[in-house]
Amino acid sequence: MCGIIGFTGYKPAQDILLDGLQRLEYRGYDSAGIAFFKDNSGHVSVRKTAGKVNDLRAICDEENTSSTGIGHTRWATHGGVTNANAHPHKFGEVTLIHNGIIENYHELIEKYDLKGKLKSDTDTEVAAAVISCNYSGDPVSAIRAAVSELKGSFAFCILFKNHPGEIYAVRNVSPMVATHTDDHGSFIASDLTAFIEYSNSYFVVPEYHIMTMTDGGIKLEDMEGNDVAPQYMTVDWDVSTAQKGGYPHFMIKEIHEQPQALSDTMGPRIKDLLPDFEEDGIPDSLFEGVKDITVIACGTAMYAGNVGRTLIQNKFGIPVTIAIASEFRYERPTISSDTLVIVCSQSGETIDTLEALRLAGKYTDRTLAVVNVKGSSIARESNYVLYTHAGPEIAVASTKAYSVQVAAMYLIGCKLGLVLGRATEAEVREFISGLKNIPSLIEEVLKMEERIKGLANRMVNTKDAFYIGRGLDYTLSMEGALKLKEISYIHSEAYAAGELKHGTISLITDGTPVIAIATQQNVYSKVISNIREVKARGAYVLLISKDKEITDETVCDEHISIPDISDELTIFESIIILQILAYYTSVGKGIDPDQPRNLAKSVTVE
Ligand code: G6P
Repeated sequence: MCGIIGFTGYKPAQDILLDGLQRLEYRGYDSAGIAFFKDNSGHVSVRKTAGKVNDLRAICDEENTSSTGIGHTRWATHGGVTNANAHPHKFGEVTLIHNGIIENYHELIEKYDLKGKLKSDTDTEVAAAVISCNYSGDPVSAIRAAVSELKGSFAFCILFKNHPGEIYAVRNVSPMVATHTDDHGSFIASDLTAFIEYSNSYFVVPEYHIMTMTDGGIKLEDMEGNDVAPQYMTVDWDVSTAQKGGYPHFMIKEIHEQPQALSDTMGPRIKDLLPDFEEDGIPDSLFEGVKDITVIACGTAMYAGNVGRTLIQNKFGIPVTIAIASEFRYERPTISSDTLVIVCSQSGETIDTLEALRLAGKYTDRTLAVVNVKGSSIARESNYVLYTHAGPEIAVASTKAYSVQVAAMYLIGCKLGLVLGRATEAEVREFISGLKNIPSLIEEVLKMEERIKGLANRMVNTKDAFYIGRGLDYTLSMEGALKLKEISYIHSEAYAAGELKHGTISLITDGTPVIAIATQQNVYSKVISNIREVKARGAYVLLISKDKEITDETVCDEHISIPDISDELTIFESIIILQILAYYTSVGKGIDPDQPRNLAKSVTVE
């Protein structure tokens, strides 16, 4: 939540900041702002406004030669969406941008006697004031003193008046990465996508270390003032992976990237049709003696984990608990040293998931992260990491990250099945040979885009929609319903088809859309009966199944036939349909699916 960027180097900063902010908008888009050393003097100028980065562009100077600046795109926490609450915040000689929450800002207002002196309602301005009050010419000492008083999470980029060309930075919990290149200068941002155009190598700014950035390099020191060498890493993507590439929105581009993302994620982990995590440094001993599994995650990642739970429990007989990270943190943990804790996260920065991982780590050394962003906090803090290789996911609504997380869960399940003797190599090989075909089958499903677009027209004017299924199809429906509600604002709920009659069926009236998924043969006839029950009450039913054709009008109004594969794998096909349906419903309603209201992609507040 909130995107931050800083640049100091050999070229004008303004466009670098604005373009970077645009790529960080998935982190929030309530307001935007930049600060820079005007004409490279010691004077700091600020431009900021409520609204999106394009609104900020409109109020920026046409000519701006400053080669040092910082920029921010906000997801509001403290204080409404106003110009005054937009970052950067200036207090005294300090100008800063912030991602995170300062929890003790009330106490600090008292302590530093700030009442009546602040221009905004934000916790951030209080942090700027605390740094300013501790400042007497040496930025690093001021930051060190201020940070020791701040409670909460923060990533700050700071400019000090009369220190042209210098950006200071420090963080706790909230993410920040940086790089220096001889050609351009020094960059810092919430994530690499902001400056991928200039470098694909970067380092994660360590927590509680102070950075001094100039055009010539980056100095990193710990709180005691000892120099620390940055740990650089590289990614193999380039700027084109963080652009729309001809698609109207990132979401539809990312939906289409799923075959590639799945091949990239599964390919290196399949050897001789068996799961192989050697290159990931994950030893079989991690799985030996595992008695149960707890999967911890939020949002779409949690729903992906839930699909994994259903498969692993049913196929390999290993008990799996799925835990919503924000709940897990406040419940009595039931995990032991024999529990494998799988933490699933696209960003690797979701604060609830990270804190839940830290808690789980007190009970077991068997923590395994399934994470997309290299070097992210969750990846660094878990005992082992299985990186998904989806590339950058920019649309707020997660699509390709979901599919690769499910694939990773399936491979982990196979490994557990083998190590614990719950499946033979032959059984696993058969399953994995099906899994390997998924990318090409998804290509087939993607060809149905126009048809699904047509079906989405029917959804545009609806208020409520229900998704039903049983078994794996039920877990999938949860993700389908989430996709629709987050980007189209239509109230949508997933129900286990057999549970409808215990209450929810009372909400079905003439024309209520019900998206039914019936791909699991062991419960197929039961689901069809449940569908008939809603159909009899007037529902408009869109059915997804493996049947070639359904002509019985008492079953459905529309039918989408997916390629016939094993029941355990159909979810990879069905989810594509549900994602496309949500996407075109959103577009049909005139909503920007990449930036739905109130949401942000990387949720770094609790
Ligand atoms: C937010 C995003 C979702 C995402 C969830 C978990 O709610 O909007 O798309 O699924 O956070 O994020 P993570 O990065 O941990 O997977």
